[in-house]
Amino acid sequence: MKYHIKTFGCQMNVCDSDWLAQALYIRGWEPAAEEEADAILVNTCSVREKPEQKVYSQLGRLKRSNPGAVVGVGGCVAQQVGERFWERFPHVRLVFGPDAVPSVPESLERLAADPGLRISLLDFCGSYPERERVWSLTQQPAQRFVTIMQGCDNFCAYCIVPFTRGRQRSRDSSEVLRECQELVGSGVREITLLGQNVNSYGRDRGEEEIGFADLLERVCSIPGLMRVRFTTSHPKDLDGEVIDAFARLEALCPALHLPLQAGSDRILQRMGRKYTRQGYFRLVEELRAARPDIVLSTDLMVGFPSETEEDFQQTLDAMQRSGFDSSFSFKYSDRPGTRAANMPDKVGEAVKADRLERLQALQEELTARSLGSLQGETVTVLVEGADSRNNGSPASWRGREPGGRVVNFSGTDNRDLTGSLVPVRVREVKKHSVYGEVVNEPW
Ligand code: 5AD
Ligand code: SF4
Repeated sequence: MKYHIKTFGCQMNVCDSDWLAQALYIRGWEPAAEEEADAILVNTCSVREKPEQKVYSQLGRLKRSNPGAVVGVGGCVAQQVGERFWERFPHVRLVFGPDAVPSVPESLERLAADPGLRISLLDFCGSYPERERVWSLTQQPAQRFVTIMQGCDNFCAYCIVPFTRGRQRSRDSSEVLRECQELVGSGVREITLLGQNVNSYGRDRGEEEIGFADLLERVCSIPGLMRVRFTTSHPKDLDGEVIDAFARLEALCPALHLPLQAGSDRILQRMGRKYTRQGYFRLVEELRAARPDIVLSTDLMVGFPSETEEDFQQTLDAMQRSGFDSSFSFKYSDRPGTRAANMPDKVGEAVKADRLERLQALQEELTARSLGSLQGETVTVLVEGADSRNNGSPASWRGREPGGRVVNFSGTDNRDLTGSLVPVRVREVKKHSVYGEVVNEPW
């Protein structure tokens, strides 16, 4: 049997799709192109309107490109739309929400054996839904994600996640550590801990579970693990202990994604974010004091209901002050069932587009400044693979420095450097990445 997986949305989905691919593979399934697959899984995202629309157009297309395949729809759109998928897309035979990922491989086998069957897996679990351990069975790439929690309790006014992914449930820390140890044992050198709001890890389990700073410390002390990152953080929950971890833990990379969303206190309050711009600036200051080389990235939204030009100017100002290396920026869109969808004073499309353009122009300047600081520096790069834009030439590589910025470089000979840590001197700074060359032989 052959499978094909399409993934939309966040790193949680990427991580779920990776698990599904491995779980199917060890059951004897082979990966295949979309037209040749017996089963096609579409892992969906509904955090904004645009990715949700993409899912529908993909499903329409799949019906024509491979009418005989079992089609399964998972992720946030599946949780939201549920069995109504059957009506609009009769070729869909499996819908599964984020908590049901562990039962998908078995369900696909049942569907393949019984053409009359449809399965819907949309229940939320009371605790973190543990999965079969598949990683230790195959060779792993140098970088992996490890999920530490599912769901979110924050209910920011614009966000659909608490509805599609349910309440926060932290995974048992002993399971997290065991998975990290197994990954390191099979060749992984960098781990990113994943969750919707990692800073509140453990709080749903009270005394019974350790907190996020402790978890970080334990993960960072796994022998052989060179780099640890985590995402996503909520500014209201980022505490002194975690900031201090940036100063103390050598394996913890000097990089943090800290979504600001907006720079105006009035908009932050309406969003229900529970911090102020001054509070955010204080965090940035403390982080830079703990780790002067820290590279900050963020999420920003323009055109939240009632946002004025003055509010927007405060977002631009906050970007300047925080000096973000990079940002993901979006036009606000209504999500069904959220508080913001019912707020008055919606901002027009043209105004949103204009603000987004100005915001992104400023980000380009800030990114240039951040990348410019690497000029002439020697950085340690974890090599992800050959630089694809170089026509597969083996002497050209791509990886990331500890701050997470992309570094392309040329090697000295034809050895495969994938997965190695290599010192690279930066010679040239381009728009979104830098170029350099190997300083010494890596071994
Ligand atoms: N409209 C626009 N952007 C949104 N995001 C979340 N919900 C919405 C929405 N309704 C953005 C936020 C979040 C990122 C993952 O997506 O910036 O941090
Ligand atoms: Fe959504 Fe807010 Fe939870 Fe992030 S913290 S997932 S923006 S509700």
